[in-house]
Amino acid sequence: MVYLRNTDLTSGMCLARDITFFDSSAGSVVTLKTGTKLTDMNITQMNRSGAVEGAYISAENSEVRVISSINSEIKQNAISNIHSLADNFMDSGKGVTQSDIDKIGDTTEQLIDELADKKDILINIADIKMYDDYTFHHSLSVAIMAIAIGLEMGLDRSMLEELGTAGLLHDIGKTSVPIDIINKKGRLTDEEYNIIRMHPIYAANHLKERHLVSEACFCGIIEHHERWDGSGYPFKLKEGQIHPYARILAVADVYDALTSNRPYRIPAPPSEAIEFIMGGSGSHFDDEIVRAFLRKVAPYPTGSKVTLSTGEVGTVIKNNNEHPLRPLVSLEDGRLYDLGRTDANMNIVITGLYEPDSARLIHG
Ligand SMILES: [Fe+2]
Repeated sequence: MVYLRNTDLTSGMCLARDITFFDSSAGSVVTLKTGTKLTDMNITQMNRSGAVEGAYISAENSEVRVISSINSEIKQNAISNIHSLADNFMDSGKGVTQSDIDKIGDTTEQLIDELADKKDILINIADIKMYDDYTFHHSLSVAIMAIAIGLEMGLDRSMLEELGTAGLLHDIGKTSVPIDIINKKGRLTDEEYNIIRMHPIYAANHLKERHLVSEACFCGIIEHHERWDGSGYPFKLKEGQIHPYARILAVADVYDALTSNRPYRIPAPPSEAIEFIMGGSGSHFDDEIVRAFLRKVAPYPTGSKVTLSTGEVGTVIKNNNEHPLRPLVSLEDGRLYDLGRTDANMNIVITGLYEPDSARLIHG
């Protein structure tokens, strides 16, 4: 199954997931079921709705390029660049080189170009994730999320480049931590926890000694586990003492970690992870950054099946950029609830979220 944007869909492709949307010209809700072979008419309807950004297509009959939030070729390149930089970081005889950093810089530029082009799109975490080799993919997801937040906050290009680079490199120090500590299921001992807490220092100092990153990028890396209230590590910095890049990375880092599959924890759905971040606003996290983050993430991506406080079940057919927790929902009988209309639907809230392609309620 591959996710394709509307512009890459052609007639004859076979849907791998249901799509439901409102066709305003026809004045009706359209549901295209899994297995449907798309026609030109379907694709026109999807474009016209303005609510469908793309569709999941069966991989067997798709020979076109895969494009989701970020082009998959860029993601693969990013991963291999982080990988080879980390290999050199681990090699005590060699260390990270200027050429490694130049490649990371190229990756950052490509990510910024992609995201700046799609400024109005809410980030669907499932689209940017790739599910193996956690540390490197985590670094990429964090960089993407951090750049999206930075764009939303109006950072200029050179700041976005420093921030994106810090995102790609923030956890390379973890490659020095024994893997059985990183993946440990039980509670960490004090000694193990102290080893983990060294990872921002390992990476940042290594890069600084070789004059490979700017001071701001260094601060982003070394301070990414500091918390707004001073309860973080390694320096227990608080509020304005923490570099703004590190404050952005902290939000992106926790969001990606919570929504990831780890040996010691099943992934939280986006809505639950967002609630956790909101709960930490002003204590763990800078609230200005949390607000920018909330404008950029989709807790209920288009196509999510949800339960409502009315007891009804529906499908999210359009996200609401102003109020991400209040999308447009289509019920099974075709009626619509626009939860963004607080005058009419203020008393209705989403109470649960189903796992994609299954009847299992994962939240609520
Ligand atoms: Fe970290």
